[in-house]
Amino acid sequence: MSGSQNGCCNGESSPQGGGARVFEGGGGAAAESKRLASAHPSPPPARGLATSPFGGGLTAAVRGGRSADPWSRALVTPLVQSTTYVGESLESPPPHAYSRVSNPTVSSLEARLGAIEDCPPAVCFGTGLAAETALFLATLKAGDHIVLGEAIYGGTVRLVRELFAGLGVAYTFVDTAGEDGPRNVAAAIVPETRLVFIETPANPTLSLTDIEAVARVTKRAGVLLAVDNTFLTPVLSRPLDLGADICVYSTTKHIEGHSSAMGGSITTRDEGLLTKIRWVRKCIGNIQAPFNAYLTERGLATLPLRLREHSRNAQRVAEWLASRIGEGVSCVHYPGLPDHPQHELALRQHVGGEFHGGVVSFEVAGGYDAARRLLANLRLCSLVEHVGSVETLVTHSASMTHADVPREHRLRVGITDGLVRISVGLEDPADVIADLEQGLDAACGTAEKAEGGVACRV
Ligand SMILES: Cc1ncc(COP(=O)(O)O)c(C=O)c1O
Repeated sequence: MSGSQNGCCNGESSPQGGGARVFEGGGGAAAESKRLASAHPSPPPARGLATSPFGGGLTAAVRGGRSADPWSRALVTPLVQSTTYVGESLESPPPHAYSRVSNPTVSSLEARLGAIEDCPPAVCFGTGLAAETALFLATLKAGDHIVLGEAIYGGTVRLVRELFAGLGVAYTFVDTAGEDGPRNVAAAIVPETRLVFIETPANPTLSLTDIEAVARVTKRAGVLLAVDNTFLTPVLSRPLDLGADICVYSTTKHIEGHSSAMGGSITTRDEGLLTKIRWVRKCIGNIQAPFNAYLTERGLATLPLRLREHSRNAQRVAEWLASRIGEGVSCVHYPGLPDHPQHELALRQHVGGEFHGGVVSFEVAGGYDAARRLLANLRLCSLVEHVGSVETLVTHSASMTHADVPREHRLRVGITDGLVRISVGLEDPADVIADLEQGLDAACGTAEKAEGGVACRV
């Protein structure tokens, strides 16, 4: 069915603008973006402001892409829950038509997320996986091929292996970390490859990929490079400045930062791609809810401050865990530790080279049983399927976030049954360490053993 056959209001036009759409004036998605831009004037992206996390980045996080609400003059973006908007006439449409396509509160968040990354307004989604789904639908079709880092969030692995493969998209997972990473990517690219997708630092192994080196490979091959920048956010990592084409986020994590709102976003400086991604979102209807956008925008203002403290606390926790090697801990993964295999890359690639994010992972000596005992005995740290919030959160990746990743794939990347991920919060790190200490003592058999396991898949 062609776009024009669908064409009443609310966005059934194609990205090429072929659909008849009452409130669109026949201009398609590009015209819609233009209209939205004029209805929600945002200051031009604060170029250069966001490149230093705790100098200009503070300003960009609080002010970037913000202007007083044009109607009410409210300083804080109003929460608009309306599903639809009233037009004066067919010739004079409202700036937003229907909240599946766009919404003033979501558009405000999009302007701000774009500004912090020196980009046009981002595109926001209901979740991080919804953002990834839209990206894959916008860039891949049956017969195409995608190369992915093998160390990535388990939900992304499931999305590609179980859903997109069924739609005819071929995939190859490669080790993108370390010096061989770019060569491995180059070797995996075939004529059908359209997209390379990496995550750095990787969830939960904290391995790093050299974005600049991989971007040289993808540019040479003429394929797009997307980076899942969820763990560091634009405050601590700037993939688009290093040559990547697209950044993807689960804003559910550090960007919202308070465990209160699901969300995802995509930023790119490629206007054509943005238009296509917006069109996919319109087709499949996976836009972010306005209330979640409202909460996420509030979180964004304190993102640089929180990430600095998360990183400082994580460094302390990682160093303490490293001091426990041989006493219940067999290894620790954190890019800020000098013996992390890509520590040099962390210093070069992470903005300012000083902070490396809030997530640490470590292996409990004794495998699954010891990890289970540790997790059951923690009193302050919460056992959850989540990272990037003000609370310290722990996860058993093998049975939770990566439960759907085939065991052989998991073990190859280092997600062993004894691996525990800790997202260090904003509590006093001494209290977090004290909790880990008593938990590890219990897990090592010096205290009462807890019962019960964890097995849930999200
Ligand atoms: C790195 C990373 N990317 C993407 C996602 C998916 O995000 P969401 O849970 O918002 O769908 C997650 C979720 O844990 C994640 O950790």
